[in-house]
Amino acid sequence: MEKTLVIIKPDGVARGLMGEIISRLERRGIRMIGMKFVQVSQDMAEQHYAVHKERPFYPALIEYITSGPVVLMAWEGNKVIEAVRQSVGATNPTQAAPGSIRGDFGIDIGRNLIHASDSPENGVAEVGLWFAADEIVSWERVGESWVYEG
Ligand code: RTP
Ligand code: MG
Repeated sequence: MEKTLVIIKPDGVARGLMGEIISRLERRGIRMIGMKFVQVSQDMAEQHYAVHKERPFYPALIEYITSGPVVLMAWEGNKVIEAVRQSVGATNPTQAAPGSIRGDFGIDIGRNLIHASDSPENGVAEVGLWFAADEIVSWERVGESWVYEG
């Protein structure tokens, strides 16, 4: 099974969309294995977005992600990377499909509400960056056989 790191960014928290976003992922059938509410430090922001260090939008991105509290979540499931990226929608909200989180609630790329890991390898690495081993919960949701065929 894959893991993904999801962040409800400061705009999602400030706009009162925490419950809506969590509910959408929960109803997809995937399993939450960790969650916490934090103010992101400069150091953690830089580690998380190290891959974008040379991009022109990097300073604004660091300022954005540290501008208020965020919800950090780890989710697990078959194809959870692909499924959550689909539920999140394209990076630029005006190009994100209606029905996706960014497509339904976002306008600007620099206020796109949510982060989700983009590959199984990055999912493992990002969950490891943000969660200690004892903050990850091992459990099974009732009815997972109604979500996954096998
Ligand atoms: P994320 O990492 O947050 O899940 O988003 P993503 O994979 O869809 O997009 P990515 O290319 O990884 O970019 C990370 C975040 O940087 C901001 N961004 N701004 N102004 C711009 O051109 C621009 N491009 C990206 C967005 O907040 C994006 O989610
Ligand atoms: Mg990304």
